[in-house]
Amino acid sequence: MARLGTETAFEVLVRARALEAKGRNVIHLEIGEPDFDTPAHISDAAVEALHAGATHYGPAAGLPELREAVAEDSARRRGVKATPEMVVVTPGAKPIMFFVILALVDEGDEVLYPNPGFPIYESMIRYIGGNPVPVRLLEEKNFTLDVDQLVDRVGPRTRLIILNYPHNPTGGIIPESGLRAIADAASQWGVPVLSDEIYGRILYEGEHVSIARMPGMEPLAIVLDGFSKTYAMTGWRLGYGIMAAPMAQVVAKLQTNATSCTATFSQLAAVTALRGDQSSVDAMVAEFRRRRDFIVDGLRAISGFSCARPKGAFYVFPNITRTGYSSKALADRLLDEGGVACLSGTAFGEFGEGHLRFSYANSMENIKEALERIRGVLER
Ligand SMILES: Cc1ncc(COP(=O)(O)O)c(C=O)c1O
Repeated sequence: MARLGTETAFEVLVRARALEAKGRNVIHLEIGEPDFDTPAHISDAAVEALHAGATHYGPAAGLPELREAVAEDSARRRGVKATPEMVVVTPGAKPIMFFVILALVDEGDEVLYPNPGFPIYESMIRYIGGNPVPVRLLEEKNFTLDVDQLVDRVGPRTRLIILNYPHNPTGGIIPESGLRAIADAASQWGVPVLSDEIYGRILYEGEHVSIARMPGMEPLAIVLDGFSKTYAMTGWRLGYGIMAAPMAQVVAKLQTNATSCTATFSQLAAVTALRGDQSSVDAMVAEFRRRRDFIVDGLRAISGFSCARPKGAFYVFPNITRTGYSSKALADRLLDEGGVACLSGTAFGEFGEGHLRFSYANSMENIKEALERIRGVLER
């Protein structure tokens, strides 16, 4: 158990809530969830499903109608042909990470993963006794994954490659040429690729391209996606993976052992989310873009900060080295003295030092106030 890591965002949230309980005002820029409500037509579909009796166990891999809708959506949006047999629906997308790493990685196996990156990848690799091999994301390359570095590290001991784009915490993406080079290396060595595309629709320029579309990836690609971010449904716990059918059977079996299945009425609402009106997604992304530009410009104006303009997701990852603080020390000061909750870059791995992560899934007024408070703490 000592090898198991955690997600600091939840810990900071607890600390922030404790301050609030003492009467302090805290602006929450730590947790990664849209501040919007789930679109009403999706909630209505869940209520209808409940009243219609969708309150029983369902199949471990997910309801056939949702697996079908996910496969259809994948063909339409990713240009990746998928059949319902290739889809596994899980309570949140996180179990896909957990189950896939559990299924594939044995003691001593190497797993390539982005660092800084979502902390659960490294946590799970270590927990299972695998050997985490970080691929460093470089600020000078606009946090685009360094594909040459990754390809150089693929070898006979590599059991899994984990990608995440648009990337948490930097908002970086991987261009199509990079995906092609990774796909070539993966097929050359027969290594599966877990492609975390949970922010695939929260993109501010260009089209999201999935590695699953690259030649040779059919048996190797495992796409992770879900409803949490795209449809503001974090609390519903609803995600899925798309992978070769034999792998899907393995993941479904793990699900039988762990949770039995995902809540049935929420799966029916998810069908409505995928097939229904998408205008709320477009409106949310447009609003996130406005906030991104505002927070990037605001952080750049603070002495000691520099900040890249992210291409996707809803996080900024400013460089704070010129303030003279370590990431953790500054994050703590901003919370304790400024009432601004954010995350230290080191919450995303060792290569996050020198950075903070702010989520801009919060109102413009709060972001504006947070920027003033940050400036106030640093000028003190
Ligand atoms: C990169 C990344 N992958 C996966 C997830 C998990 O999503 P879910 O809430 O659907 O489990 C998150 C959530 O923060 C994330 O940032």
